Amino acid sequence: TDPALLRNFCIIAHIDHGKSTLADRMLQLTGVVEQRQMRAQYLDRMDIERERGITIKSQAVRMPWAAGDTPHVLNMIDTPGHVDFTYEVSRSLAACEGCILLVDAAQGIEAQTLANLYLAMENDLTIIPVLNKIDLPAAQPDKFAGELAHLIGCDPGDVLRVSAKTGEGVAELLDEVVRQVPAPVGDADAPARAMIFDSVYDAYRGVVTYVKVVDGKLGRRERIQMMSTGATHELLEIGVNSPEMTPSDGLAVGEVGYLITGVKDVRQSKVGDTVTLQRHGATVPLGGYKDPKPMVFSGLYPIDGSDYPALRDALEKLQLNDAALVYEPETSAALGFGFRVGFLGLLHLEVVRERLEREFGLDLIATAPNVVYQVTMEDGTEHTVTNPSEFPTGKIAEVREPVVRATLIAPSEFIGAIMELCQTRRGTMQGMDYLSEERVELRYTLPLAEIVFDFFDALKSKTRGYASLDYEPTGEQAGALVKVDILLHGDKVDAFSAIVHKDKAYAYGVKMAGKLRELIPRQQFEVPIQAAIGARVIARETVRAMRKDVLSKCYGGDISRKRKLLEKQKEGKKRMKMVGRVEVPQEAFIAALSSD
Ligand code: GTP
Repeated sequence: TDPALLRNFCIIAHIDHGKSTLADRMLQLTGVVEQRQMRAQYLDRMDIERERGITIKSQAVRMPWAAGDTPHVLNMIDTPGHVDFTYEVSRSLAACEGCILLVDAAQGIEAQTLANLYLAMENDLTIIPVLNKIDLPAAQPDKFAGELAHLIGCDPGDVLRVSAKTGEGVAELLDEVVRQVPAPVGDADAPARAMIFDSVYDAYRGVVTYVKVVDGKLGRRERIQMMSTGATHELLEIGVNSPEMTPSDGLAVGEVGYLITGVKDVRQSKVGDTVTLQRHGATVPLGGYKDPKPMVFSGLYPIDGSDYPALRDALEKLQLNDAALVYEPETSAALGFGFRVGFLGLLHLEVVRERLEREFGLDLIATAPNVVYQVTMEDGTEHTVTNPSEFPTGKIAEVREPVVRATLIAPSEFIGAIMELCQTRRGTMQGMDYLSEERVELRYTLPLAEIVFDFFDALKSKTRGYASLDYEPTGEQAGALVKVDILLHGDKVDAFSAIVHKDKAYAYGVKMAGKLRELIPRQQFEVPIQAAIGARVIARETVRAMRKDVLSKCYGGDISRKRKLLEKQKEGKKRMKMVGRVEVPQEAFIAALSSD
């Protein structure tokens, strides 16, 4: 296809503002999917995505559209919608020349939309502002057209109005995509360079890699090279999605499509990498490649210890499809054998955990998530800590933690509540802007660790669900951080060690000790529960000793009855874990780990 006739675009929208519905309507209008075959939400393939209403993996669909009399080719690139996947979003955007900024006409702009809009602006995309759901009685298109126009600096009259549900205005929107979005430009005679913006594992075909060709051409049966690693592969198949995979002879400048090389692991085909040809290949990769970096870690343990091999296999399988997922085996005195798993963020963690439980039928315990700490000792040695129980002992010069730049949007009546919350979470205010008279955008830097703990929930309850939040990592900062250990009868319970700010250490210690006192059954002896920083005890509770021996009940009874009772007791012990001399039912650990 002549690049002049190509238009590559994506849709930026907040959850529930109607991106999938609009995408479906476009597929239908362009004849790519017939009405009869129309399956709701064609683009979201995974069950979990559908149920949770989030789009995790992006894909691209090619659609023909004749604007006036000239047939054009539109490539719609689906961007993941959540904060954890910022890098993937940025690569999807980099594959486009324009984007549709889709906003619910009854809701207005939200933090997530704004964050992605900023990314689109950084990538110099043409932005087409669109209000959706104008069929709703509650829609206030005039009001929100003003807000959008103010935000991106256009005329309120330029804001398009559509209903993805009824189809009203959608054909006009496609015409505007052709009119406003620039055609891709590239050098057809230069050595081939294509940018990977998505990489998906398919059980039958292996990894399917989505690319945009920037320069040159990729053809069937050629040998390609991944520029970040130098690895080469044969192109077994190349083609476009329309909407099913359709093989072709090749992809040329500006075109978007898929590659299949037979590799089985998405880490061999990384998002952001540049694909070139092995012979006469390019020497300079396209910019912007980054390795995915896990930001949040959690220990995952099978509730039933015999599921450990199944958990290992499941993680191996998931990693084929998820280059950002990292894990290594870990042992916990309290929880047994498991894995320390690294995630891009909280949502990523939840999605992985849910897939392990649902697709692989595993029952899991997850330890409280923690961020990655950098510790410098006084003798100059450095430690990277992904597990609080491995926090170094000895003379520490400095502890650094990751920080994020957060954007919060809410009705202005909640400004006070949000400022208070961010204050207690060690936030620093960076700025505040009114989007309209009654809606405000607040910008903060916050330690990631403070967001990892129930920040969303606290924000929601303080703003009655009206606030939206987005954040992106911006580096690290030093903090007065200490490790708090929890000891049972003098023995450390590794799963409860936490790294917290020193002002919050006491509260954490008191809370955990209190929780455990409630949950741990009485033993033959008194069990002290202590919270300590190093050797210094900061909180203490006691589980008092059992008053009577179980056996005393059958004092004088016959021996067989006694044996039966002991037998029974052994049964119950199977689910018990020993921490030093103390027996703790596994349920107690699970309950103590679950946030309240
Ligand atoms: P995620 O995939 O979760 O990000 O959501 P989305 O932005 O793709 O939203 P989706 O298309 O799933 O739409 C969310 C809800 O809004 C669904 O219940 C749709 O039926 C509804 N909806 C979408 N567009 C319209 C519209 O134009 N009018 C009305 N009345 N409802 C709409």
